Amino acid sequence: MSEKPWDGRFAEATDRSVEAFTSSIEIDHRLYSYDIEGSIAHCRMLAKTSILSEQEASLLIQGLEKIKIEIEQGRFEFDESLEDIHMNIEAGLVRQVGKTAHKLHTARSRNDQVALDVRMYLRDRTSMIIQKLIDFRKIIVHTAKTHIDVILPGYTHLQRAQPVLLAHHLMAYYEMFSRDVDRLSDCFKRINVLPLGSAALAGTTYPIDRNYTAMLLGFPKVSDNSMDSVSDRDFIIEFLSSASICMVHFSRMSEEFILWSSSEFGFIELPDSFATGSSIMPQKKNPDVSELVRGKTGRVFGDLMAVLTMMKSLPLTYNRDMQEDKTSLFDTVDILISCIDIYRKMLPKIKIDKEAMLRAASRGYLNATDLADYLANRGMAFREAHGCAGKAVSSAIGQKKELHELSIAELKSFSSLISEDVYTFLATEQVINRRKSYGGTACENVAAAIKAAENRLREETEGRAD
Ligand code: ARG
Repeated sequence: MSEKPWDGRFAEATDRSVEAFTSSIEIDHRLYSYDIEGSIAHCRMLAKTSILSEQEASLLIQGLEKIKIEIEQGRFEFDESLEDIHMNIEAGLVRQVGKTAHKLHTARSRNDQVALDVRMYLRDRTSMIIQKLIDFRKIIVHTAKTHIDVILPGYTHLQRAQPVLLAHHLMAYYEMFSRDVDRLSDCFKRINVLPLGSAALAGTTYPIDRNYTAMLLGFPKVSDNSMDSVSDRDFIIEFLSSASICMVHFSRMSEEFILWSSSEFGFIELPDSFATGSSIMPQKKNPDVSELVRGKTGRVFGDLMAVLTMMKSLPLTYNRDMQEDKTSLFDTVDILISCIDIYRKMLPKIKIDKEAMLRAASRGYLNATDLADYLANRGMAFREAHGCAGKAVSSAIGQKKELHELSIAELKSFSSLISEDVYTFLATEQVINRRKSYGGTACENVAAAIKAAENRLREETEGRAD
């Protein structure tokens, strides 16, 4: 058992089972680089404010830098009895520089330290996720552009409704993932606040300079209330809810790929390299990647629920319950990154069966609304036109024909307003290209939406460059 930095008032050693139960090192060791970077900035601030001497601070900084190398080379010895990454690094610093190491924790507590580490970790991961989503949206837009002439049925209630361009369908996902980027960028602002200097909960008696630490660590803002700073996990909850919404989008897209790759739809073929087979049925090619993305979405929702529930009854300020936040947070970060990465690779490899999609869009009375529009254009009230077109559909169903397969005489029997030009009016391409209302599926609208998306993506990419 190692000596603990807090054991001065304890007469008995901690029970081994308690050490194992309370330890979080298995989870939070991944915060090591942020913990070290934060401690180095803290040392610099302590020297600047003359709380530590320059020599003491530089000794501590050298020690911390050595520890970073030891951890990266796998030479650092982690000790479960030292609870967490913060105490492990502090103990490592004692091994490196001796007694001076004990000065590192001046004007600081693990409560503001852990809040700092998680914020630094999450700000990195959030910008990484945003960049990956930008790349993925580029792939969506590119796929839409290269398949601009592909038509498929649009559905409501999973019933064929009206024909749409595949590009329009794909651009719907572009919109969803763009909102995810907006949400994460907004959430980033609230992650990017420095809690260090709040100490245990009430602030500190030392003449610290929090703005200096913030400047060193690239935080544009310091937190305003020490009690809030050590007990706030809103930024984690916000991230987890943004991640959950993003996973909803991945899961819905997955569901469509799963349906579309079935023989019932036959709209797409998944690349062999991204599908798996069955150990018993030789003919099977399963959409496991999409299924797992859909499945992992449940885990991400669970992570959000876990943190919300963990926080909901906690009195101010820090409570040890909060140590559990990292298990959920890391799980969601890993899942979200892996899902974006796998789809960035898989989407361009999906084979689209243009003929199958068009075939499906040409049957099932997807132009029935347009027959009603045709009549309305010729002066009939829309409600009446709807009824008239409905009768035509019903008669066509009885004859196992499509509307445009009915003879002109038959069509005229539903309304004398119908003439020969109805056939071109009902043609699938015309049905699509007449939907020119802003946001509609007409080819020229979709081409414009693609252009606008390309411009926004260019701006976002250039934004990253500065
Ligand atoms: N391992 C702890 C956590 O992750 C660090 C903070 C511990 N603070 C304390 N007062 N025990 O929450």
